[in-house]
Amino acid sequence: MEITVVGCGYVGLVTAVCLSHIGHKVTCVDIDKEKINQLQNGLSPIYETGLEELLQKNIALGRLHFTTNHKDSYKNTEVIIIAVGTPPKQDGSANLDSIYQTALDIAKSIVNDGIIVIKSTVPVGTNSKIQRYIQENLISNVHFDMVSNPEFLREGSAVYDTFYSDRIVIGTNSERAARTLSAMYKKFNTQAFITDPSTAEMIKYASNAFLATKISFINEISNICEKVGANVEDVANGMGFDKRIGHAFLNAGIGYGGSCFPKDTRALVHIASDVEHDFDLLKSVINVNNKQQKLLVQKVVSTLQEIKGQHIAVLGLSFKPNTSDIREAPSIKIAEQLIELGANVVAYDPIANENAKAVLPNEVRLVSTKEEAINGSDAVLILTEWEEFKDMDLQIYVELMNKPIIFDGRNCYDLKRVKKHNIEYHSIGRPIINAYMDTTLFLER
Ligand code: UGA
Repeated sequence: MEITVVGCGYVGLVTAVCLSHIGHKVTCVDIDKEKINQLQNGLSPIYETGLEELLQKNIALGRLHFTTNHKDSYKNTEVIIIAVGTPPKQDGSANLDSIYQTALDIAKSIVNDGIIVIKSTVPVGTNSKIQRYIQENLISNVHFDMVSNPEFLREGSAVYDTFYSDRIVIGTNSERAARTLSAMYKKFNTQAFITDPSTAEMIKYASNAFLATKISFINEISNICEKVGANVEDVANGMGFDKRIGHAFLNAGIGYGGSCFPKDTRALVHIASDVEHDFDLLKSVINVNNKQQKLLVQKVVSTLQEIKGQHIAVLGLSFKPNTSDIREAPSIKIAEQLIELGANVVAYDPIANENAKAVLPNEVRLVSTKEEAINGSDAVLILTEWEEFKDMDLQIYVELMNKPIIFDGRNCYDLKRVKKHNIEYHSIGRPIINAYMDTTLFLER
């Protein structure tokens, strides 16, 4: 099949590469010349496990092309997939400027019948509006069908998620389009769920909002656990055995970040208010998340008493492991608070240092190894659960820190493992381990 993907961001690029890998001829377009240049040379502008290898392979096989020439790439293609950004506006609603611009370009370029797919996350009703908008602006007498086809890819494992997804949602009023899209995705071997466009659009928001709800819920439970002396990890495990609940997305931490959950939860609150529905539950989820991102620093303050002039090491800056993305990462707010309190902050991330430089306060010193960050520090804050931190020898903290005090925002270490070292360890929703004052008696139970 001949497919054009518009937008070479996370979603567009991964989709394009994976579709070419299952044998389709894919052209990927973007307005960013530098990015296209890089991609034409087989270099991925984003860090995504397995992506660059597949990119190079499929370029070499002649199935994958990159261009800035929008008009030509829309002309003779069967399916156009729109995967441009829908960033949040000041009021939380989605900015659809790029979607409308792309729709106009398509209307003024297509000369054959075809299918137009919106993969970008868009408010409910957008597919119908875009269908009318394209229809009104068409310059040729062609027929096109419209499909809402939301994505459920996690950054860091987006390639894996594309090949092994739980579901493919196809929202369309056209049986022909549903058949064509099902055939296009057939080799991914996943059941397609076919519905109408508005329902498909809502499935996307409802899924992200529900996952965010699970996270805020377990974070609230973790805060209570800390006060009553329970262990949130075991609570989540115990809950997860119930198949109606499941184990996934019950890891307590410093709150969700990234380019999706914060944006989509705010957008859904906005979508609800547009139809005069006050989405109280989701507003609370967002509030809990904002509060959760501040709690770790409060713990540091109450433990160290005086933060001013202290050397604080931050390990991990990306919003989660295996990505260099720091958009809405909790590390940003945490670093800002620490700097405001007068701490000397030294930070390290295995791959996000470069991206972090642009958004972190200038006072944060970025270093290229975790040892450099930890060396001589008065406290370590772990903000991303990279394997590199999880696997490290804990004795490094004892050897390199002034006095080993760790604030682990991601529960990277088993408590029994920590107890073997002379470390003071504060994690989320679990008892404090204090080498000097044993406060963990109930662990022995
Ligand atoms: C999320 C969804 O998981 C994808 O299904 C969706 O397609 C994507 O958004 C999107 O809308 O494009 P992503 O933002 O890449 O994917 O990352 P997640 O793995 O979902 O993690 C989001 C945040 O939640 C991270 O900050 C992570 O640390 C946090 N999280 C996740 C927790 O705090 N606890 C958990 O148990 C799970």
